[in-house]
Amino acid sequence: MRTLISNGTIVTAEGSQEADVLIDGETIVQIGRGLANAGIAADETIDASGRYVIPGGIDVHTHMELPFGGTFAKDTFETGTRAAAFGGTTTVVDFAVQSRGKSLREGLDAWHAKAEGNAVADYGFHMIMSDVNDDTLAEMDQLVAEGIPDFKLFTAYPGVFYSDDGAIFRAMQQTAKNGGLIMMHAENGMAIDVVAADEVAAGRTDPYYHGVARYPIFEGEATNRVIRLAEGAGVPVYIVHLSAREALAEVRAARDRGAKTFAETCPQYLFLSLDDMKNGFDGAKFVCSPPLRPADHQAELWTGLVKDDLQLVSTDHCPFDFHGQKELGRGDFRKIPNGLPGVEDRVDLLHDGGVIGGRITRERWVEIVSTAPARLFGMYPRKGAVAVGSDADLVVYDPNATRTISAKTHHMDVDYSCYEGRQVRGRSDIVLSRGSVIVRDGEFTGRKGHGQFIKRAAADFARMS
Ligand code: URP
Ligand code: ZN
Ligand code: ZN
Repeated sequence: MRTLISNGTIVTAEGSQEADVLIDGETIVQIGRGLANAGIAADETIDASGRYVIPGGIDVHTHMELPFGGTFAKDTFETGTRAAAFGGTTTVVDFAVQSRGKSLREGLDAWHAKAEGNAVADYGFHMIMSDVNDDTLAEMDQLVAEGIPDFKLFTAYPGVFYSDDGAIFRAMQQTAKNGGLIMMHAENGMAIDVVAADEVAAGRTDPYYHGVARYPIFEGEATNRVIRLAEGAGVPVYIVHLSAREALAEVRAARDRGAKTFAETCPQYLFLSLDDMKNGFDGAKFVCSPPLRPADHQAELWTGLVKDDLQLVSTDHCPFDFHGQKELGRGDFRKIPNGLPGVEDRVDLLHDGGVIGGRITRERWVEIVSTAPARLFGMYPRKGAVAVGSDADLVVYDPNATRTISAKTHHMDVDYSCYEGRQVRGRSDIVLSRGSVIVRDGEFTGRKGHGQFIKRAAADFARMS
């Protein structure tokens, strides 16, 4: 099957050009002006006039079916990757979980079983490590060889995913040998638990106090600590879901002194704030960790994206229904499952707030939502590029269309939207995954099982700054 995308404006991280794209099978085979008029034969021609042609979005932080707080994140690999596709994201990297006392292998096998035959678009895995011991350290090397080169550890969630400094340092030492990457959830979970217990004891049990108890300085402290541990081990480190200016200041300082420190933020920290958590128990819809911050943090996060102290935006997609799941925490915010839905809205929110909002160029937008994730997570140039030889993961994007975000129309399997009623400019009209059209004008045209596991290489951090 040959598909020609004609008359569009190709937008990549490097620049923009008017050119046509020829796809043969799953791969981009030719890019040039006027291919449509040059007698190139194609089975289908997609007219992209007035629209952008961009590399498919890559969301490197999702949690399909994550077990958390006595329940599970609702989206499966089928519903989650379908929702992602509607929003212009054609690859997700999800977190497989090693449960305490079990092997990494058991966790990884479980995640392969969840995804294989179900995903509608491509996927990879990172590995959450709950135990660091001789066995799991040895297993890390094997996972790197199998295309799972990143490992998430936590200074948060004592008793669940928490690792102490020695465990984190040992895991970092292991990546010094095997070329993997440690991803850190950096909040001081021990201190947070003290404050959270004080709040509940004082009768402050509403969701809002989840946000109050997790001080920004606790994120700043843990961010500094894990960066310093990584410097001690001589390895790069990646900070996930950075939310607070205090944490950004630590990342910026580290990068200024030449440390290989990388970080992502998420749409919820750019567009939502602690005030959203104020509305009685309705605030539970916004409970995630790190929490939403006072609105004045947002401008600094945008500056971080402009200056590349933050390299990319992922969603931390981890949806729990308000009814029946978030409600587990009525009367005690500590029991509300942590996480927000978002995989469908990231590309449009960043286009609307970033490009239309005049904060970033359209090229930087593409870099933040696709190219930088591909580079940092070992998929470039197979993914994240519009280039000959790359996978034909492409989005025909209308930068002028408007849509209103709502739970009534979204495709994520969750009963509310954090952005209910927000109008955004920009929409993914046609979405291709490895050459197949999987979304066309609001209709799903793909198939369950089309998505493939992407074996990723360890990124070449020596060449990255
Ligand atoms: O609230 C969040 N972020 N839930 C998902 C788990 C995590 O820490 O990423
Ligand atoms: Zn986390
Ligand atoms: Zn997460």
